[in-house]
Amino acid sequence: MYQASENRYEKMLYRRVGQSGLKLSALSLGFWHNFGDVDDIANQRAIMHHAFDSGITHFDLANNYGPPAGSAESSFGRIINEDFKAYRDELIISSKAGFSMWEGPYGKGGSKKSIIASCNQSLERMQLDYLDIFYHHCPDSETILEETAHALDLLVRQGKALYIGISNYSPEQTQAITEYFKAWQTPFIIHQPQYNMFNRKIETALLDVLAQQGLGAIVFSPLAQGLLSNRYLNGIPKDSRAHRSDSPFLSEDQVDATIAKIRQLNGLAQGRQQSLAQMALAWNLRNPTVASVLVGASKVSQLEDNLKALNNLEFTEVELDLINQILK
Ligand SMILES: NC(=O)c1ccc[n+]([C@@H]2O[C@H](COP(=O)([O-])OP(=O)(O)OC[C@H]3O[C@@H](n4cnc5c(N)ncnc54)[C@H](OP(=O)(O)O)[C@@H]3O)[C@@H](O)[C@H]2O)c1
Repeated sequence: MYQASENRYEKMLYRRVGQSGLKLSALSLGFWHNFGDVDDIANQRAIMHHAFDSGITHFDLANNYGPPAGSAESSFGRIINEDFKAYRDELIISSKAGFSMWEGPYGKGGSKKSIIASCNQSLERMQLDYLDIFYHHCPDSETILEETAHALDLLVRQGKALYIGISNYSPEQTQAITEYFKAWQTPFIIHQPQYNMFNRKIETALLDVLAQQGLGAIVFSPLAQGLLSNRYLNGIPKDSRAHRSDSPFLSEDQVDATIAKIRQLNGLAQGRQQSLAQMALAWNLRNPTVASVLVGASKVSQLEDNLKALNNLEFTEVELDLINQILK
């Protein structure tokens, strides 16, 4: 029987999401990889226990996480119901719909049909009554924004989601959908974009739009899927994402193309008495609009490493300049 650590709230920081009343742990745990049927359930359980014991209150899922698609939500549902029932009110659980999930015209996109059906499926797989945050996972050029916004608003009114988020929307799309949510007083509070040292696109306009609208960001792949850590410093391990055949999202070529910069960044991190992963996460958190960094972990030891990022979140101007020079 799992009993959460009594000290779980002692070390974590909790940061407000935009101007909403919701705070998220500065580190959140993502279930995109490492929680499918192909992954060891005992390891999944250990990672979830360690995360919650360390003050991570937010678990992020999506309909299609696995593989196979849906299996991350099913495993999560099993563990949540077996181990975390007593802690439901201490947890922020999110899911998403938008990418391809089931056969036929309603298995993806942003129509009312797709979003409502997908949310119902997610609740069933996770054996939950409601989600804390429900996201539209990616913009859908075939559905007008008003319909997608209406479907998300309906989920809140049906009691299936407390807050609404969007992911992978451009600054312009974000601005446009915000107008609907404002008019309907929908609790739309959060955007989930990719952000890391190798992908700084959100710095050009999105972060400004979010700040102006009182919205917060939770950023995904803050370690560029593991590149910004010690994972690849001495070659490409057999169990790594870059090598695993069930993950097509990070290639060995991407490791080869970035390893020189990774080594330079690692040297800088060592000078700060941090691991590279810790420095990369701290760097992502330097903007107050970023409420939380959404990390993945295939091992408890990675999570332990990442959590220590909170020991040093400060950067000198000299360090920031050096990082900019390395990333050029
Ligand atoms: N909204 C979207 O479209 C979208 C897209 C992608 C992700 N996400 C969300 O963001 C979450 C995180 O994404 P991500 O998994 O790409 O994040 P990430 O934190 O950039 O990468 C996680 C991977 O990095 C490696 N790693 C993590 N910590 C490490 C450490 N301390 N030392 C060495 N290696 C370490 C592990 O790779 P190995 O597996 O090689 O051990 C781990 O699986 C996802 O789970 C999901 O919830 C959302």
